[in-house]
Parts: sequence; structure tokens; C-alpha cells
Amino acid sequence: MQSIRPLLLYYSLHSSKFFFYFNSINNSEFREKMSEQLTEKSMKVVCVTGASGYIASWILKLLLDRGYTVHATVRNPNDQAKTEHLFNLEGAKERLHLYKADLMEEGSFDSAISGCHGVFHLASPVHLTVKDPQAEVLDPAIKGTLNVLTSCKKFPSVKRVVLTSSMAAVVFTGKPRSPEVVVDESWFSDPELCKESLMRWYTLSKTLAEDAAWKFAKENGIDLITINPGMVIGPMLQQGLTSSVSVILNLINGGKTYPNATFGWVHVKDVANAHILAFEVPSASGRCADDKPFAPIYQVSKEKAKGLGVNFTPLKVSLHETVENLKHKGFASF
Ligand SMILES: NC(=O)c1ccc[n+]([C@@H]2O[C@H](COP(=O)([O-])OP(=O)(O)OC[C@H]3O[C@@H](n4cnc5c(N)ncnc54)[C@H](OP(=O)(O)O)[C@@H]3O)[C@@H](O)[C@H]2O)c1
Repeated sequence: MQSIRPLLLYYSLHSSKFFFYFNSINNSEFREKMSEQLTEKSMKVVCVTGASGYIASWILKLLLDRGYTVHATVRNPNDQAKTEHLFNLEGAKERLHLYKADLMEEGSFDSAISGCHGVFHLASPVHLTVKDPQAEVLDPAIKGTLNVLTSCKKFPSVKRVVLTSSMAAVVFTGKPRSPEVVVDESWFSDPELCKESLMRWYTLSKTLAEDAAWKFAKENGIDLITINPGMVIGPMLQQGLTSSVSVILNLINGGKTYPNATFGWVHVKDVANAHILAFEVPSASGRCADDKPFAPIYQVSKEKAKGLGVNFTPLKVSLHETVENLKHKGFASF
């Protein structure tokens, strides 16, 4: 068996393609490796923070589908409107356990993380407009991430942490971009430049939180992987409207204003799948970036992803499913 080592993991939002770069691995070896992991997996217990959220709900669904037992954290387990959809998922009654945890409370995640093999940390404020940036966005994102990692450090059962970062923590480097330039995981946003971005406090919070996470992981020997998606769209499992999908809703409802920017879009199921692969593939490491095509757009090879057998959702399908879901939920009517 040859070792597999991902050198780069790209998520191209623009073309909705996921790019894995592996050293010398063929399909049969990969399937063999994955099937070994699937056998082991039935034993696995994982924690998902911010489980009622948009992306987390999809991760939870895919984890349950794959036989995992999931410790899911929410701020208020009694808020049925935010948790009902989770208990309607296949396998939830047997293998979903809800825990109360708040990013701003030290030790709050201990009981949820205790006994887990892996942790998916998604809880973080996703606010487009804020009154008190420090209290509403920066503290929960940065201190909250460190709280979660501190809990992970306490429990040796935790073998890997997958942190949901963002392309916001990647692209604001000041480096020029052109069709020849490939943005990869070596790019890390400059906090000063984040402040000049469209969603400045959110952008800054993701950059500082990811930076703090890498430092903590290095100092404490935690196996950390970050996923850096751009704008996530696709069907919402939860009742409420999520920020990234609200951008599409604004457009289809004939909003009078819209961001003067080019975004990359990615299907939520592909993002969820990427998180789980990042946890399951033993040799996965580092940051899993996507390209966010503020004009000009650049190119990324698709060959390795095809070789891996990952089928990513075309942008047209992602948009179609988003709009249909918005209509179905009564957010849009036409
Ligand atoms: N959507 C995107 O386009 C996108 C792109 C890149 C990265 N991301 C990242 O992906 C993650 C999930 O985003 P999402 O789009 O799924 O957003 P979401 O639906 O708003 O989910 C965010 C979750 O964070 C939880 N949360 C916020 N503050 C918290 C606190 N103080 N304590 C505990 N939980 C708290 C929320 O819980 P409540 O329900 O209790 O408020 C919610 O479950 C975030 O880290 C976000 O930065 C999202």
C-alpha cells in the first residue's frame, strides 16, 4: 500500500469542483484504504459544534448516513425551531446526542467532546452587519475556537479536529491576482487588509480565529485541518435563512442593492463531504482552500479530483436547488 499524502486540497467555488492533490495513488488503492476506514468508522464518535447551523446540519446528516454517532452542540437544546430538523434525520434517534454549549463559556464544550474521536468545529457568528464587532463577532470566533480546542486537548480520544475557516482567511493578502495566479493554501489573509474587505468584521474574525487555531494546535500537538469554503449555497435543512443563501434570495426577490463583488459559490453538500473526507483520510493535512474568483478568474486542474472519484455539483445545479429550496420554504414566491 502506497502512502497517500494530500499536498493541496482546493475547493473551486467558481467551477464547483473540488481538487485533491495526492502523491502516487490510484483508484483501487484509494477504495481499499477507504473501505478499511469504513470498517473502523462504525466505532467512531464525533462532535459537531454549532450543529443547528446551515453547513453543520449537512455534515451531521452525512455523518449519520455513514454510521457515525454524533455529539451535536447547540446554544439552546430546548429551541425546537432550531433542532427539530436534526432529529428528523435518518439515524438521529439512535445516534444523535444534543449538548448545550456556548462559545463564550470556558469548558462549555467538555462534555460534548469527551469520548469523541473527531471534532468538527463550525460554530461561529456569521453576521453581515454588526453593532459591537468585538462582542458579537471577534470574541466568539477567536476565544470560542480556543475554548473548543482547549476541550479537545483535554481528551486524548480526539484524534483530529476539522475547523471550518473561510476563503476570507485566504485571499486578503495584497498579492496581485490574475488569470495566471493560483490561490492556494499558502495564502493567509492579512488582518489589516481584512478590515478593508466587504464583510470586514466577519473576514477579520475568520482570519484571526484560524491563525489562533494553528498556533494552539502546533503548541499542543493537535492534528488540525481547516476547510476554507467561499460562499456556500444549496438546500437548507434548517428552518431559518442563512446568510450566504440570503444573498441569492436578495437577488431573486429583486433587491435594489447587492454587493459590488464577484463571489465563488459552492454547494453545501460538497462542503460537508469535504469536511468528512478531511477527517477520514488519515494523511490529510493543512488547509483545504478554494479559489474565490474576484475578477480576474484563474484556472485550476480537475484531473486529481476526477481520479479520486469525487463528483462535485455544477454551479447551475447548486443555484437551481437553492432557489427551489427557497420557494419550498416560502422565502421566495414566483
Ligand atoms: N455559509 C457560508 O457561505 C460560509 C462560508 C465559509 C465559511 N463558513 C463558516 O462555516 C461555519 C458555519 O456557517 P453557516 O453558514 O452554517 O452559518 P450558520 O447557519 O449561521 O451557523 C453558525 C452556527 O454558529 C453558532 N453560534 C454562533 N455564535 C455562537 C456562540 N456564541 N456559541 C455557540 N454557537 C454559536 C450558531 O448557533 P445559533 O443557532 O445558536 O445561533 C449556528 O449554529 C462558520 O464557521 C462560518 O464562518 C460559512
